Amino acid sequence: MIIPIETPSHSYEVSIGERHLTEALQSIKEKIEHADQLIMLTDENVWHYHQDYFEKNFPFEHQVHVMPAGEACKTFENYMNVQTYLLEQKATRKTMLFALGGGAVGDLVGFVAASYMRGIPFVQIPTTILAHDSAVGGKTAINHPLGKNMIGAFYQPQAVLYDIHFLTTLPKREVRSGMAETVKHALISNDEWLSQLLAHTVYDFKGHVLESHLEKGIQVKASIVKRDEEEHSVRKFLNFGHTYGHAIEAASGFGKVAHGEAVMIGIIYALLLSENYGELDHSFTKKMLTFARQSDYPFEAVSNFTFDELLTYMMKDKKVEFGQLQFVLLRRVGEPFVQTISADEARETDVRLRRLLQEVTQ
Ligand SMILES: NC(=O)c1ccc[n+]([C@@H]2O[C@H](COP(=O)([O-])OP(=O)(O)OC[C@H]3O[C@@H](n4cnc5c(N)ncnc54)[C@H](O)[C@@H]3O)[C@@H](O)[C@H]2O)c1
Ligand SMILES: [Zn+2]
Repeated sequence: MIIPIETPSHSYEVSIGERHLTEALQSIKEKIEHADQLIMLTDENVWHYHQDYFEKNFPFEHQVHVMPAGEACKTFENYMNVQTYLLEQKATRKTMLFALGGGAVGDLVGFVAASYMRGIPFVQIPTTILAHDSAVGGKTAINHPLGKNMIGAFYQPQAVLYDIHFLTTLPKREVRSGMAETVKHALISNDEWLSQLLAHTVYDFKGHVLESHLEKGIQVKASIVKRDEEEHSVRKFLNFGHTYGHAIEAASGFGKVAHGEAVMIGIIYALLLSENYGELDHSFTKKMLTFARQSDYPFEAVSNFTFDELLTYMMKDKKVEFGQLQFVLLRRVGEPFVQTISADEARETDVRLRRLLQEVTQ
């Protein structure tokens, strides 16, 4: 299936399928032939599992550069190493980069592509469930020791080739992490779709069923990015679950709790907060929590921190405006809105979350 992504700056396509990499590459053959060199950047885990499949299905001459996996890929050091590698390879403005990997590889390669010689073309070949989210929308970044994703650019790829065959080797933690963003996409868009997701654990989705959920997620993201490429308005809705989630992720030390795992915790927090405003009631929050616990999301992470520790991280969020906490909440499923929340209300909600977690573990 082909999903068009239209943004004010650039339009491109996401092609999603199973074992369709060779075919998907044909759709960008002209762009590939226009390039003077193809450079494939990946990480050590992805290369370990998928080198054979990739080499068999990538019928163009190319170089391969393997990077450290996970957040280690998004350091200044690795960014510098990759730029050095490109200069040594004599990469020019007509060189095309390929990001074969999860969100970390995609973010790093995207930012390298945005900045090398002021911008060269790149293609995303996502290999995680989470990357159905990160590969679409043009946000690219590396981390600074003082904050995650603090240095980056909006820069769109030439294409996203999403072959879900890669997902078969994902560890459970990465399945949980990616499916949290899928659930988020359902929560902010479509009640019926959400019910289909909640009827299972996150590990149950395979093959065509998984593909169709990821398609829906990409469509939600595409329609939002089309309206607001640089996050001045509706794009903020994609941050549902991310304010409290990012705080958990950052406080734990990046990589300890996976991004989407932390987002799921943040989703439950945001639902508790939503109870104060919209039409969702406590039974809905509890239903979501039951689903999340059956899928092993690591809620125990919350008890490792005090609210004040988490608040410090929440205040550092890029989305904080004029020193005020901004939360995306739900009026009902499919109806997100942005709400300024006082530190007191955030604290009271944190107390409610801890109480609820205690209740369900007893
Ligand atoms: N740009 C955006 O809009 C956006 C959105 C969400 C998240 N992100 C970023 O994405 C990153 C998280 O994404 P992620 O979870 O995909 O991260 P990741 O790239 O770190 O992948 C997670 C782990 O899975 C491994 N892996 C990847 N593909 C695999 C496969 N097919 N089989 C086995 N192992 C595999 C990786 O080596 C890594 O250890 C974070 O850095 C986050 O900030 C960006
Ligand atoms: Zn996210």
